[in-house]
Amino acid sequence: MIPPRPVYRCDLNESAYPPLPEVAEAIASATRTANRYPEFLPHGPRAAVAAHLGLDPDCVTVGAGGTAVVASLLAEAASRPGAPTLSAPRLSTPMPTFDGFAILGRMLGYDVDPTPLHDDGAPDLAALAASVTPSTAAVIVCSPHNPTGAVLGEDRIRGLLAALPDDLPVILDEAYVEYCAAPPDSRALVADHPNLVVLRTFSKAYGLAGVRVGYAFGAPGAVAGARRREVPFGISAAAQAAVPAALAARRPLAERVAAMRRERDRLTAGLVAIGCPVLPSQANFVYLPGEVGIEVGRVLRGVGVLGREYAGHGFRLTVADEAVTDYVLGALELTAHCA
Ligand SMILES: Cc1ncc(COP(=O)(O)O)c(C=O)c1O
Repeated sequence: MIPPRPVYRCDLNESAYPPLPEVAEAIASATRTANRYPEFLPHGPRAAVAAHLGLDPDCVTVGAGGTAVVASLLAEAASRPGAPTLSAPRLSTPMPTFDGFAILGRMLGYDVDPTPLHDDGAPDLAALAASVTPSTAAVIVCSPHNPTGAVLGEDRIRGLLAALPDDLPVILDEAYVEYCAAPPDSRALVADHPNLVVLRTFSKAYGLAGVRVGYAFGAPGAVAGARRREVPFGISAAAQAAVPAALAARRPLAERVAAMRRERDRLTAGLVAIGCPVLPSQANFVYLPGEVGIEVGRVLRGVGVLGREYAGHGFRLTVADEAVTDYVLGALELTAHCA
């Protein structure tokens, strides 16, 4: 019998590694008392995140993944005093990007104004600032950007904030920041900009996508509305136990991040060597722009490697483990696809 062909899921930017043993143990231990409700509101994870960041707990809101936190922030932005009322609120965001922004935006009654990326994959911040009108209720920008992995330096983020109305809610999405070589000083950014919140998640570098926990931080006034929207019992006991354990595991996390970077760089070098276009990435995925990238994605799908195609724009592939990198490069070499 022919063995079934493997299917590799490289389409959701999940970590290639399971939760760290100490985090898995904290989760397992929490599930042993799962007949009990977790904390009513997530004070424990909030305090752990605040201590990790050196912030006051009032500066932090916690939700069931970054997705839930974005939903609360957008709901709040659309309903705050001074938000546009005559027409639908508008959300400006560079595209392509994380699908969740448009999905949540539409769910919450927003019209979305997409703005372009530069050829290097970085959001065009001048276009983003220019897209803002009196109907704009919120702006979201990622760094590293999903799907390209491009990073915005602190100067560029400050330039964007200076170009935007200072009472317009801005979300800087740092879902992949742990992978970044030189992340901006986001605490300084939020200290200087009371309209800015920074979004983070335990789903990526911490390897806890299935546990569903993320957070945002900013000035107390910037997160107060999202905090009021925290859902009672919304953070599971497993997630509540995972957060402090994950934050404490600095060294093993750093080792995993280093391993991912090595694998990403090997994948990038291998793709370049066979003539595939690849943008430099500071996240756990690589982006192959243009029709060639899309075609590479289709070839990979044909051999069981699922990535993410962005129609008319390119193809994103999550970095997995060594065996998958070897399989991807081997499959592309065999089909001599990029040459
Ligand atoms: C840029 C970005 N933001 C936020 C998220 C949300 O992640 P989660 O809801 O798992 O925390 C993702 C997930 O892929 C993402 O790519």
